[in-house]
Amino acid sequence: MLGPFAVSKTFYITTPIYYVNDKPHIGHAYTTIACDVMARFKRLDGFDVKFLSGTDEHGQKVAKAAKDQGISPQELCDRNSKNFRDLLGVIGASNDDFIRTTEERHKVACQALWKQLEANGFIELKKYAGWYAVRDEAFYDEGELTKNADGVLVGPTGAPVERVEEENYFFKLSAFQDRLLKFYDTNPDFIGPKSRFNEVYSFVKGGLNDLSISRTTFSWGVPVPGPKGDDPKHIMYVWIDALTNYMSALGYPNTSGDYAKYWPNVMHMVGKDIIRFHCVYWPAFLMAANLAPPQRVFAHGWWTVEGQKMSKSLGNVVDPNDMVAKYGLDQIRYFLMREIPFGNDGDFAEAAIAGRINGELANELGNLAQRGLGFIAKNLGGELPSPGAFTAEDTELLKAAADIIGPVREAMDKQGFDKALDAIWSVVRAANVYVDRQAPWALKKTDPARMNTVLYVMAETVRHLGILMQPFVPTSANKMLDQLGVPAGERTFAHLGYAHALKPGPLPAPTPVFPRYVPAGEAQAPKPPKGAK
Ligand code: MSP
Repeated sequence: MLGPFAVSKTFYITTPIYYVNDKPHIGHAYTTIACDVMARFKRLDGFDVKFLSGTDEHGQKVAKAAKDQGISPQELCDRNSKNFRDLLGVIGASNDDFIRTTEERHKVACQALWKQLEANGFIELKKYAGWYAVRDEAFYDEGELTKNADGVLVGPTGAPVERVEEENYFFKLSAFQDRLLKFYDTNPDFIGPKSRFNEVYSFVKGGLNDLSISRTTFSWGVPVPGPKGDDPKHIMYVWIDALTNYMSALGYPNTSGDYAKYWPNVMHMVGKDIIRFHCVYWPAFLMAANLAPPQRVFAHGWWTVEGQKMSKSLGNVVDPNDMVAKYGLDQIRYFLMREIPFGNDGDFAEAAIAGRINGELANELGNLAQRGLGFIAKNLGGELPSPGAFTAEDTELLKAAADIIGPVREAMDKQGFDKALDAIWSVVRAANVYVDRQAPWALKKTDPARMNTVLYVMAETVRHLGILMQPFVPTSANKMLDQLGVPAGERTFAHLGYAHALKPGPLPAPTPVFPRYVPAGEAQAPKPPKGAK
């Protein structure tokens, strides 16, 4: 099956740009890791990939945080944007660019888009009285509001709203209802998972109000362009500013270069809370500017922590830096991608992390690699032996390892990370069963030629697993491939299959790739000497 991006072979993937009013937490790391896995997968599959992340630095929320801390908004942005940029290194993100909305290239793009919307007749100045939630940086309709337990008026997310009355520029969103519905009808893969598609569809079907896209009561934002330079009164609403980042990073309004190469072969990865902005407002802005809407938006779920909502007031905000230091980078990446079907909510429980590390990475995948390579190092002087004729069992396992890319690719095209891992794991488990049945250690004396073939088949299966696991656990997977002596240039999906099989000969000394997680305190507990009372 050809995935939605297969025709052009370019793939542009973006994280949401993160608000700098706060420190990065595990939810932010999650979105970025998912994008990184996708980006690495597509690169290995022969695509020309551009992977973008960045920070969302304007708006009332950031301005307020700076005020509370007694510093200028720019100072706050510089300090906190760095935390997000540093996190990318910590979580192994292979992004090609990092955009900050306070950069000049972004201002240029925002103002160009605005002028295009205006020239096309979709912006008008109106008096506005309505409800705004600073926490969500969103306007809500009267009908969406409720009172919370404390009697405070809140929006659908529970964020308190305030009454605003301003003269604002409006985007004529109401004119796009039919075009959006038609676009969804003809692009059923535009939004994943399906449940979110339906949610967006019924929201738009319910009717669209025009959208206020400028603010006048504070000044921390991109100035609205006027006929003679910047409009002194209005700044852009933070979401029109923020969404444009995806095009600023392609050099828009220059429509040659990266823009021509990557737009609209783009996938925006977002959390479920910001789907309306990406699936309704963003395609409407683009249509209004005569630009193509993105190919796909995927909305993932939210993590709770040990069963509770993550919040500063509960003091349970998980810092991804701590988790990586405690469990290891590949281990955290694996856990986040494996634990819950992408799109669903999930619970971040440390016992579950340890379970996945020990049960799956150490006992199943790590053990498979170690059994084969350790045996070769100990008994064959570290030389990968030449295989003899293959039996039906050998061929079956080799074929399963080579063919699994089909179902894995199909799952990844729908961002089914857990399903892709399930498919890979079917080979890990089959390989462990194969080793138990073939018992190479027993063949050492009885049939060394057969032992050589079994060890070779094991190593060749591990080579496939190493190649396939690179997007998820890049460091460990490459360590597995190093230990098999696979050249750096022979690790893409084009190198799966027997045509690129391992060459017999000396291998580097193996070391375990996936250590067991042992909680601190139990780490070095010495075993009592034999016979000790
Ligand atoms: N600045 C906007 C995005 C603009 S994109 C043009 C924003 N920023 S954010 O920092 O608040 O959130 C960034 C992402 O983190 C969102 O996709 C959000 O869903 C995600 N998460 C925040 N908390 C989360 C969890 N507890 N669990 C999973 N993801 C979470 O929104």
